[in-house]
Amino acid sequence: MSGVTRIGHIALRVRDLDAAVEFQSDVLGLVESERRGRVAFLTCNERHHELILIESGRRGYDHIGLEVADPAALEETLRAAALAGAEPIGPVYDGEPGIDRAALLGGPGGHVYKLFCGMASVTAPPVGDRPRRFEHASVKARKLGPTERFLHDGLGFAFSDRMGRTASWWHCDADHHGMALIFGPRHELSHYAWSLPDLNAIGRVADRLAARGQKLLWGPSRHGPGHNLFAYFLDADGVMVECCADLAAMPPHGDYEAKRWPGGFGAINRWGSPPPPRFLLAGSPIAHSSPEWER
Ligand SMILES: [Fe+2]
Repeated sequence: MSGVTRIGHIALRVRDLDAAVEFQSDVLGLVESERRGRVAFLTCNERHHELILIESGRRGYDHIGLEVADPAALEETLRAAALAGAEPIGPVYDGEPGIDRAALLGGPGGHVYKLFCGMASVTAPPVGDRPRRFEHASVKARKLGPTERFLHDGLGFAFSDRMGRTASWWHCDADHHGMALIFGPRHELSHYAWSLPDLNAIGRVADRLAARGQKLLWGPSRHGPGHNLFAYFLDADGVMVECCADLAAMPPHGDYEAKRWPGGFGAINRWGSPPPPRFLLAGSPIAHSSPEWER
């Protein structure tokens, strides 16, 4: 089966690797599964990694990891993505820590996606206060259309919701969205998101942030599109993080119907005020460069 079947991970560039790992461990409960040089692989479950942190002088996100079923699906999806306008970044390669085979693609606006298969299993961290899994990435684009066509025609994502000309949400499995697009003045990352069990778990993240002297940026509240509970804050490098719970499930796993919401921002907060400027302006630039296992 070609096409993306699961949102895999995000790779971020960080100024101080040890400080970034400490933040992810203390606030979110992530566990480091492997370190290669100044690159750390973190997880919250039995998968080898759901977050990659790369120490670097450059600020930004390196790539978004998207899983396909197997090597044959990787080849098929690469062909479909090329027809949808994707630019390959280097060859298909083996040997990256924790995964079997992968290839990097440049999508519309220069967003960088890693298609991969064969995620390794590790001993899951002990039961504790941590996310269940990496949930979604939200990218900004100057025009939504080209990235929407790339996600749908090239990578096999299906439509979930649209909010005027401002945003759209796309799914590749039961989750209402694994990728979100937001209109913005630059092609950059808006935020990355974790799935937590419930609102209390989100509250405990906020408590741990508060203990560090840091406030939430927006929320907690409930989005209209996707129906999920949310809270946003900045990580140690100023990249916006979302903690989610109660995300809608798409058919055949759930009964959520794809929707078209009015423009503006009223729909994305069902309980309270529209997003503050700090949410709208948050963005992390695209900053990809290949470590040795991608060459
Ligand atoms: Fe989000």
